[in-house]
Amino acid sequence: MIQDLAQALQTSSFGAFARGSAYPYANLVHLLGLVMLVGGIGLLDLRMTGLFRSLPLQAVSRVLTPFAVAGLILMVPSGFTMFAADAVPLSRSDTFRWKLSLIALALANAAVFRVLWRRHVEGVDPNLPTAARLMAGVSIVLWLWIAALGRLIAYA
Ligand code: HEM
Repeated sequence: MIQDLAQALQTSSFGAFARGSAYPYANLVHLLGLVMLVGGIGLLDLRMTGLFRSLPLQAVSRVLTPFAVAGLILMVPSGFTMFAADAVPLSRSDTFRWKLSLIALALANAAVFRVLWRRHVEGVDPNLPTAARLMAGVSIVLWLWIAALGRLIAYA
C-alpha cells in the first residue's frame, strides 16, 4: 500500500518536477525552515530549562514561538517535495521513518507542554515546574535528533 502510493507519487508529474529544477530550492527552503524551527524552539527550550534567566520567559516565548511555527510551515511542503523526488527508496528508509516518527513525538510533546504549562509560560513566575523543564529538555534533544536524521538520510 505505502509502496504503491510512493511509486505513484515518484512517477507523477509532481515527482518529475521535484527531481528537476525544484529540488535545490526545496532543499534551500528546508534548511531555512530548519534554522527557524530548531533555532527558534531550541533557544526557547533552553530558556524554559532554566538558562538565560535574565531574559523574561514571556517575552522570549512571544518572539520565538511564531518564528519556530513559521519554520515548521516551511519544512513540511519543502520536505514533501524532496520526498516526492525519491519517494520509493525514501519510503523504505529506516532513517526517514525514524525521522517522521520523532517529528510526530516532538510535536506531541510541544502540544502537551502547551496544554499543561501555558499558564506558567505566560505567567509572572519566571521559574517553570521541574516537569515542564524536563519536557523542554526532551524537546531540544528530539529536534536536534530529527535534524541529524534529516542529514543522515542521504548516507543511509
Ligand atoms: C519538521 C522537522 C524537520 C526537520 C528538523 C528536518 C531536517 C532535515 C535536514 C537537516 C535535512 C538535511 C538537509 C541537507 O542536508 O541538505 C533534511 C532533509 C530531508 N528532509 Fe527533512 N526535516 C523535517 C521535516 C521533514 C518532513 C516533514 C519531510 C517529508 C515529508 C522531510 C523530508 C526530507 C527529505 C526527503 C530530505 C532529503 C534527504 C536527502 O538528502 O536525500 N523533512 N531534513
